[in-house]
Amino acid sequence: MAKQLFSTIEEEVQALKTERGAILLAHNYQAGEIQDVADCLGDSLLLAQSAVKSEAKIILFAGVRFMAETTKILAPEKMVLLPDLEAGCSLADMVTPEQVREWKKGHPHGVVLSYINTSAAVKAESDYCCTSTNAERVLAAIPEDKEVLFIPDFFLGSYLKMRTKRPLHLWKGYCPAHAMIDPAQIVALKTEHPKAEFVMHPECGCLTKSMHLADRVTSTDGMIRYVHHSPSKEFIVATETGILHRMRKENPDKTFYAAGEQAVCSHMKRNTLEKIVHALEALEYQIEVPQDIARHARLPLQRMMAIG
Ligand code: 13P
Repeated sequence: MAKQLFSTIEEEVQALKTERGAILLAHNYQAGEIQDVADCLGDSLLLAQSAVKSEAKIILFAGVRFMAETTKILAPEKMVLLPDLEAGCSLADMVTPEQVREWKKGHPHGVVLSYINTSAAVKAESDYCCTSTNAERVLAAIPEDKEVLFIPDFFLGSYLKMRTKRPLHLWKGYCPAHAMIDPAQIVALKTEHPKAEFVMHPECGCLTKSMHLADRVTSTDGMIRYVHHSPSKEFIVATETGILHRMRKENPDKTFYAAGEQAVCSHMKRNTLEKIVHALEALEYQIEVPQDIARHARLPLQRMMAIG
Protein backbone atom coordinates (compact mmCIF):
# COMPACT_ATOMS: atom_id res chain seq x y z
CA MET A 1 0.00 0.00 0.00
CA ALA A 2 1.51 3.40 -1.03
CA LYS A 3 2.46 5.44 2.05
CA GLN A 4 0.56 8.74 2.24
CA LEU A 5 1.16 11.57 4.65
CA PHE A 6 -1.52 12.44 7.19
CA SER A 7 -1.60 15.27 9.65
CA THR A 8 -2.96 13.03 12.42
CA ILE A 9 -2.97 9.33 13.13
CA GLU A 10 -6.79 9.49 13.41
CA GLU A 11 -6.95 10.67 9.77
CA GLU A 12 -4.65 7.83 8.79
CA VAL A 13 -6.92 5.29 10.50
CA GLN A 14 -10.00 6.71 8.74
CA ALA A 15 -8.26 6.63 5.33
CA LEU A 16 -7.00 3.06 5.82
CA LYS A 17 -10.45 1.85 6.89
CA THR A 18 -11.96 3.29 3.72
CA GLU A 19 -9.20 1.89 1.53
CA ARG A 20 -9.56 -1.57 3.07
CA GLY A 21 -13.37 -1.52 3.25
CA ALA A 22 -12.99 -2.34 6.93
CA ILE A 23 -15.03 -1.35 9.95
CA LEU A 24 -13.55 -0.71 13.35
CA LEU A 25 -15.51 -2.02 16.32
CA ALA A 26 -14.44 -0.82 19.77
CA HIS A 27 -15.46 -1.96 23.20
CA ASN A 28 -16.52 0.62 25.81
CA TYR A 29 -13.28 -0.08 27.75
CA GLN A 30 -10.96 1.03 24.94
CA ALA A 31 -8.81 4.14 25.33
CA GLY A 32 -10.65 7.34 24.42
CA GLU A 33 -8.67 8.00 21.23
CA ILE A 34 -9.67 4.56 19.91
CA GLN A 35 -13.33 5.04 20.86
CA ASP A 36 -13.27 8.30 18.89
CA VAL A 37 -12.30 6.64 15.58
CA ALA A 38 -14.57 3.60 15.93
CA ASP A 39 -17.48 2.93 13.56
CA CYS A 40 -19.30 1.13 16.34
CA LEU A 41 -18.74 1.45 20.05
CA GLY A 42 -20.51 -0.78 22.52
CA ASP A 43 -20.72 -3.75 24.84
CA SER A 44 -19.97 -7.37 23.99
CA LEU A 45 -23.45 -8.10 22.66
CA LEU A 46 -23.82 -5.00 20.51
CA LEU A 47 -20.37 -5.53 18.98
CA ALA A 48 -21.12 -9.17 18.12
CA GLN A 49 -24.46 -8.16 16.57
CA SER A 50 -22.88 -5.29 14.62
CA ALA A 51 -20.05 -7.47 13.32
CA VAL A 52 -22.47 -10.09 12.03
CA LYS A 53 -24.87 -7.54 10.47
CA SER A 54 -22.13 -5.47 8.83
CA GLU A 55 -21.57 -5.75 5.10
CA ALA A 56 -17.85 -5.07 5.59
CA LYS A 57 -15.59 -7.97 4.69
CA ILE A 58 -12.94 -6.90 7.18
CA ILE A 59 -13.77 -6.42 10.85
CA LEU A 60 -11.07 -4.82 12.96
CA PHE A 61 -11.77 -5.50 16.61
CA ALA A 62 -10.46 -3.00 19.16
CA GLY A 63 -11.29 -5.26 22.05
CA VAL A 64 -9.98 -8.57 23.27
CA ARG A 65 -9.46 -11.93 21.69
CA PHE A 66 -12.69 -13.69 22.74
CA MET A 67 -14.67 -10.89 21.05
CA ALA A 68 -12.78 -11.32 17.78
CA GLU A 69 -13.15 -15.11 18.01
CA THR A 70 -16.89 -14.76 18.56
CA THR A 71 -17.18 -12.76 15.35
CA LYS A 72 -15.09 -15.27 13.41
CA ILE A 73 -17.28 -18.14 14.65
CA LEU A 74 -20.50 -16.36 13.73
CA ALA A 75 -19.24 -14.90 10.45
CA PRO A 76 -16.45 -17.22 9.22
CA GLU A 77 -16.44 -15.62 5.75
CA LYS A 78 -15.18 -12.32 7.19
CA MET A 79 -11.57 -11.41 7.87
CA VAL A 80 -11.37 -10.59 11.58
CA LEU A 81 -8.38 -8.62 12.79
CA LEU A 82 -7.12 -7.99 16.31
CA PRO A 83 -4.44 -5.26 16.68
CA ASP A 84 -2.56 -7.19 19.39
CA LEU A 85 -2.70 -10.97 19.76
CA GLU A 86 -1.80 -10.69 23.44
CA ALA A 87 -5.06 -8.83 24.16
CA GLY A 88 -6.67 -11.72 26.02
CA CYS A 89 -8.98 -11.94 29.02
CA SER A 90 -7.84 -13.10 32.47
CA LEU A 91 -11.41 -14.10 33.34
CA ALA A 92 -11.71 -16.23 30.18
CA ASP A 93 -8.39 -17.90 31.06
CA MET A 94 -9.83 -19.07 34.40
CA VAL A 95 -11.63 -22.00 32.81
CA THR A 96 -10.30 -24.52 30.28
CA PRO A 97 -12.25 -26.95 28.07
CA GLU A 98 -10.79 -29.87 30.05
CA GLN A 99 -12.13 -28.38 33.30
CA VAL A 100 -15.58 -27.93 31.76
CA ARG A 101 -15.61 -31.54 30.57
CA GLU A 102 -14.65 -32.71 34.07
CA TRP A 103 -17.33 -30.54 35.70
CA LYS A 104 -19.97 -31.87 33.32
CA LYS A 105 -19.11 -35.45 34.33
CA GLY A 106 -20.37 -34.65 37.85
CA HIS A 107 -23.63 -33.21 36.41
CA PRO A 108 -24.49 -35.49 33.49
CA HIS A 109 -27.94 -33.90 33.00
CA GLY A 110 -26.72 -30.33 33.42
CA VAL A 111 -26.42 -27.70 30.72
CA VAL A 112 -23.48 -25.32 30.48
CA LEU A 113 -24.23 -21.63 30.20
CA SER A 114 -21.05 -19.77 29.40
CA TYR A 115 -20.42 -16.06 29.61
CA ILE A 116 -19.11 -14.65 26.34
CA ASN A 117 -15.80 -14.01 28.17
CA THR A 118 -14.59 -17.55 27.36
CA SER A 119 -12.30 -19.07 24.77
CA ALA A 120 -13.74 -20.60 21.59
CA ALA A 121 -12.75 -24.05 22.91
CA VAL A 122 -14.75 -23.49 26.10
CA LYS A 123 -17.74 -22.24 24.10
CA ALA A 124 -17.50 -25.49 22.12
CA GLU A 125 -18.19 -27.35 25.41
CA SER A 126 -21.16 -25.12 26.21
CA ASP A 127 -24.89 -25.34 25.48
CA TYR A 128 -25.74 -21.65 25.72
CA CYS A 129 -23.76 -18.46 25.71
CA CYS A 130 -24.68 -15.06 27.17
CA THR A 131 -23.37 -11.58 27.82
CA SER A 132 -24.11 -9.37 30.81
CA THR A 133 -26.87 -7.74 28.73
CA ASN A 134 -28.87 -10.86 27.99
CA ALA A 135 -27.83 -13.33 30.74
CA GLU A 136 -31.28 -13.27 32.39
CA ARG A 137 -33.09 -13.73 29.08
CA VAL A 138 -30.84 -16.61 28.03
CA LEU A 139 -31.28 -18.29 31.41
CA ALA A 140 -35.05 -17.91 31.09
CA ALA A 141 -34.85 -19.79 27.77
CA ILE A 142 -33.33 -22.83 29.51
CA PRO A 143 -36.09 -25.16 30.80
CA GLU A 144 -36.69 -24.71 34.56
CA ASP A 145 -36.02 -28.37 35.32
CA LYS A 146 -32.52 -28.25 33.84
CA GLU A 147 -29.50 -28.07 36.11
CA VAL A 148 -27.36 -25.12 34.95
CA LEU A 149 -23.58 -24.88 35.23
CA PHE A 150 -22.54 -21.25 34.82
CA ILE A 151 -18.96 -20.38 33.76
CA PRO A 152 -16.67 -18.59 34.44
CA ASP A 153 -17.71 -15.39 36.30
CA PHE A 154 -18.75 -16.09 39.89
CA PHE A 155 -20.14 -12.58 40.43
CA LEU A 156 -22.32 -12.40 37.32
CA GLY A 157 -23.47 -15.92 38.22
CA SER A 158 -24.28 -14.83 41.79
CA TYR A 159 -26.22 -11.86 40.44
CA LEU A 160 -28.19 -14.17 38.14
CA LYS A 161 -28.94 -16.47 41.06
CA MET A 162 -30.22 -13.56 43.14
CA ARG A 163 -32.33 -12.18 40.32
CA THR A 164 -33.87 -15.42 39.13
CA LYS A 165 -33.78 -17.55 42.33
CA ARG A 166 -32.53 -20.46 40.20
CA PRO A 167 -30.07 -22.82 41.88
CA LEU A 168 -27.13 -22.35 39.50
CA HIS A 169 -23.78 -24.09 39.93
CA LEU A 170 -21.12 -21.38 39.76
CA TRP A 171 -17.51 -21.53 38.62
CA LYS A 172 -15.15 -19.44 40.74
CA GLY A 173 -13.69 -17.16 38.05
CA TYR A 174 -13.49 -13.39 38.33
CA CYS A 175 -12.32 -10.35 36.43
CA PRO A 176 -9.13 -8.95 38.03
CA ALA A 177 -9.95 -5.37 36.93
CA HIS A 178 -13.40 -5.48 38.55
CA ALA A 179 -11.89 -7.17 41.62
CA MET A 180 -9.87 -4.01 42.25
CA ILE A 181 -12.99 -2.00 43.10
CA ASP A 182 -13.09 -1.62 46.87
CA PRO A 183 -16.53 -1.52 48.56
CA ALA A 184 -15.17 0.92 51.18
CA GLN A 185 -14.32 3.34 48.37
CA ILE A 186 -17.92 3.17 47.12
CA VAL A 187 -19.22 4.04 50.58
CA ALA A 188 -16.71 6.93 50.80
CA LEU A 189 -17.74 8.26 47.35
CA LYS A 190 -21.42 8.02 48.23
CA THR A 191 -20.79 10.00 51.42
CA GLU A 192 -18.79 12.61 49.53
CA HIS A 193 -21.34 12.89 46.68
CA PRO A 194 -24.73 12.17 48.28
CA LYS A 195 -26.68 13.17 45.16
CA ALA A 196 -24.73 10.84 42.88
CA GLU A 197 -26.41 7.72 41.55
CA PHE A 198 -24.38 4.53 41.66
CA VAL A 199 -24.17 2.23 38.63
CA MET A 200 -22.41 -1.10 38.78
CA HIS A 201 -21.30 -3.89 36.42
CA PRO A 202 -22.30 -7.41 37.57
CA GLU A 203 -18.66 -8.56 37.19
CA CYS A 204 -17.68 -6.40 40.20
CA GLY A 205 -15.97 -8.44 42.90
CA CYS A 206 -17.71 -6.30 45.53
CA LEU A 207 -21.12 -7.11 44.01
CA THR A 208 -22.56 -8.86 47.06
CA LYS A 209 -21.22 -6.20 49.46
CA SER A 210 -22.23 -3.15 47.41
CA MET A 211 -25.24 -4.19 45.33
CA HIS A 212 -27.73 -2.85 47.89
CA LEU A 213 -26.25 0.62 47.23
CA ALA A 214 -26.61 0.40 43.45
CA ASP A 215 -29.27 2.28 41.51
CA ARG A 216 -28.58 -0.01 38.56
CA VAL A 217 -26.57 -3.20 37.98
CA THR A 218 -26.09 -3.71 34.26
CA SER A 219 -23.78 -4.22 31.27
CA THR A 220 -21.55 -1.45 29.95
CA ASP A 221 -24.12 -0.35 27.34
CA GLY A 222 -26.82 -0.60 30.01
CA MET A 223 -24.78 1.85 32.11
CA ILE A 224 -24.31 4.15 29.12
CA ARG A 225 -28.08 4.25 28.56
CA TYR A 226 -28.89 4.63 32.26
CA VAL A 227 -26.66 7.66 32.88
CA HIS A 228 -27.88 9.27 29.66
CA HIS A 229 -31.58 8.99 30.50
CA SER A 230 -31.38 9.63 34.25
CA PRO A 231 -32.19 13.18 35.37
CA SER A 232 -29.31 12.97 37.91
CA LYS A 233 -26.22 15.04 37.30
CA GLU A 234 -23.64 12.93 39.13
CA PHE A 235 -22.77 9.24 38.93
CA ILE A 236 -20.40 6.83 40.65
CA VAL A 237 -19.39 4.21 38.10
CA ALA A 238 -18.18 0.75 39.11
CA THR A 239 -16.53 -0.85 36.10
CA GLU A 240 -13.36 -0.55 33.99
CA THR A 241 -12.47 3.12 33.75
CA GLY A 242 -12.38 3.27 29.92
CA ILE A 243 -16.16 3.72 29.95
CA LEU A 244 -15.80 7.16 31.59
CA HIS A 245 -14.52 8.69 28.34
CA ARG A 246 -17.75 7.85 26.55
CA MET A 247 -19.97 8.85 29.48
CA ARG A 248 -18.28 12.24 29.76
CA LYS A 249 -18.29 12.83 26.01
CA GLU A 250 -21.97 11.98 25.58
CA ASN A 251 -23.10 13.80 28.75
CA PRO A 252 -20.98 16.97 29.06
CA ASP A 253 -23.36 18.44 31.66
CA LYS A 254 -22.94 15.48 34.04
CA THR A 255 -20.12 14.45 36.38
CA PHE A 256 -18.76 10.92 36.65
CA TYR A 257 -16.61 9.44 39.42
CA ALA A 258 -14.74 6.15 39.03
CA ALA A 259 -15.62 3.78 41.88
CA GLY A 260 -12.04 2.55 41.48
CA GLU A 261 -9.45 4.48 39.45
CA GLN A 262 -7.30 1.34 39.55
CA ALA A 263 -9.93 -0.75 37.70
CA VAL A 264 -8.01 -0.85 34.43
CA CYS A 265 -7.95 -3.90 32.16
CA SER A 266 -4.38 -4.30 30.93
CA HIS A 267 -5.58 -6.50 28.05
CA MET A 268 -8.07 -3.95 26.73
CA LYS A 269 -5.42 -1.27 27.00
CA ARG A 270 -2.91 -3.19 24.83
CA ASN A 271 -4.60 -1.75 21.75
CA THR A 272 -3.27 1.57 20.48
CA LEU A 273 -3.89 3.73 17.41
CA GLU A 274 -0.44 2.76 16.10
CA LYS A 275 -1.33 -0.94 16.33
CA ILE A 276 -4.64 -0.21 14.59
CA VAL A 277 -2.77 1.45 11.71
CA HIS A 278 -0.48 -1.57 11.50
CA ALA A 279 -3.44 -3.95 11.54
CA LEU A 280 -5.04 -2.18 8.59
CA GLU A 281 -1.81 -1.83 6.62
CA ALA A 282 -0.56 -5.38 7.09
CA LEU A 283 -3.96 -7.05 7.59
CA GLU A 284 -2.68 -8.45 10.87
CA TYR A 285 -3.43 -10.21 13.13
CA GLN A 286 -6.02 -12.42 11.50
CA ILE A 287 -8.10 -14.44 13.95
CA GLU A 288 -8.79 -18.03 13.00
CA VAL A 289 -10.77 -20.61 14.94
CA PRO A 290 -10.15 -24.30 14.14
CA GLN A 291 -13.17 -25.62 12.20
CA ASP A 292 -14.18 -28.38 14.61
CA ILE A 293 -14.12 -25.95 17.54
CA ALA A 294 -16.02 -23.29 15.57
CA ARG A 295 -18.65 -25.82 14.53
CA HIS A 296 -19.42 -26.72 18.17
CA ALA A 297 -19.07 -23.16 19.50
CA ARG A 298 -21.55 -21.79 16.93
CA LEU A 299 -24.65 -23.39 18.48
CA PRO A 300 -24.43 -21.74 21.96
CA LEU A 301 -23.64 -18.43 20.25
CA GLN A 302 -26.48 -18.74 17.76
CA ARG A 303 -28.89 -19.54 20.58
CA MET A 304 -27.77 -16.36 22.30
CA MET A 305 -28.01 -14.26 19.14
CA ALA A 306 -31.54 -15.53 18.50
CA ILE A 307 -32.55 -14.39 22.00
CA GLY A 308 -30.81 -11.05 21.36
P1 13P B 1 -20.07 -5.86 28.59
O1 13P B 1 -19.43 -4.73 27.84
O2 13P B 1 -20.75 -6.82 27.68
O3 13P B 1 -20.92 -5.35 29.69
O4 13P B 1 -18.91 -6.73 29.27
C1 13P B 1 -17.82 -6.21 29.85
C2 13P B 1 -16.67 -7.14 29.70
O5 13P B 1 -16.49 -8.03 30.45
C3 13P B 1 -15.76 -7.01 28.59
O6 13P B 1 -14.74 -7.93 28.69
